[in-house]
Amino acid sequence: MKKIVLITALSLSWIQAADNSQFSMSAADRAMYAEMLENNPADIFVAEGGEIFDEEIGEAAMAKFLGVSEKDLSKYIAGFPRYVKALDMVAGLDQVMQAILAQKGQEIPKLKSKKMFSMLAYVKSLANDEAINIDVNADEHIKASYALGEKTYNTPRGGRGLACLSCHSSATVGMALRTQILPNLGAVDAGGTWPAYRMTKSSLRTLQRRFQGCMKNALQAKLPIGSPEMVALEVYVTNMAKGKNIAIPGLKR
Ligand code: HEC
Repeated sequence: MKKIVLITALSLSWIQAADNSQFSMSAADRAMYAEMLENNPADIFVAEGGEIFDEEIGEAAMAKFLGVSEKDLSKYIAGFPRYVKALDMVAGLDQVMQAILAQKGQEIPKLKSKKMFSMLAYVKSLANDEAINIDVNADEHIKASYALGEKTYNTPRGGRGLACLSCHSSATVGMALRTQILPNLGAVDAGGTWPAYRMTKSSLRTLQRRFQGCMKNALQAKLPIGSPEMVALEVYVTNMAKGKNIAIPGLKR
């Protein structure tokens, strides 16, 4: 623990306190953001994901695989990642879809494929307006995953000796790194607003894909999407926004 605190303090030397003037959006940017909020460019990917999902899987098959009634499916989705009995592991919704397709002997899209990102966005959007209800004490499996997520979040890695915590902690929230405000991942509802359209990447990205973006910036080797550490990070970060609403697709800088 001591080590982490020290590294956080070190990294603060190149993270500066935010001076509002340089970070406020220009009028043109603000207008574009407002327009995109009305009309999220990712809506089309969500719709496409829905078409694929309905054709290849469907809500009834998903509910059956998860052992819940179709009526309860959206609330259940709002608690992911969670322990999935049929897989005997803590899994994301994308991994659940892979497993269902495997069972049916159908082609399985890669976790990092655009097709899967669209399907994931659609399936998570089934829980729109539900509150995130992840329960990190529900069973031993999710408890272990949460602990792994916390460790992955807090442990420095890579060339700059940075951890997620170095930039996303109560000590650094609101400060800025190269004109970007360091967000509190709970307050911005990261767990409820990804998959999101990333304006700077002009594409639909998932939460784990976003984690990889930060890993790259922090000179850390990217952990693979769907690895136990990544699912655990998703558990840990989603729990920060517990109780907040799900609103997919999000819209991010
Ligand atoms: C060097 C500092 C730094 C490190 C280390 C870092 N991040 Fe970030 N992160 C940022 C900044 C800055 C942003 C906001 C960028 C923007 O506005 O586009 C961000 C954004 C995010 C977001 C999106 C928040 C939203 O708006 O929904 C997530 C999620 C995230 N980081 C997770 C992580 C995780 C997980 C780690 C550890 C693997 C990590 N970050 C490590 C600086 C960092």
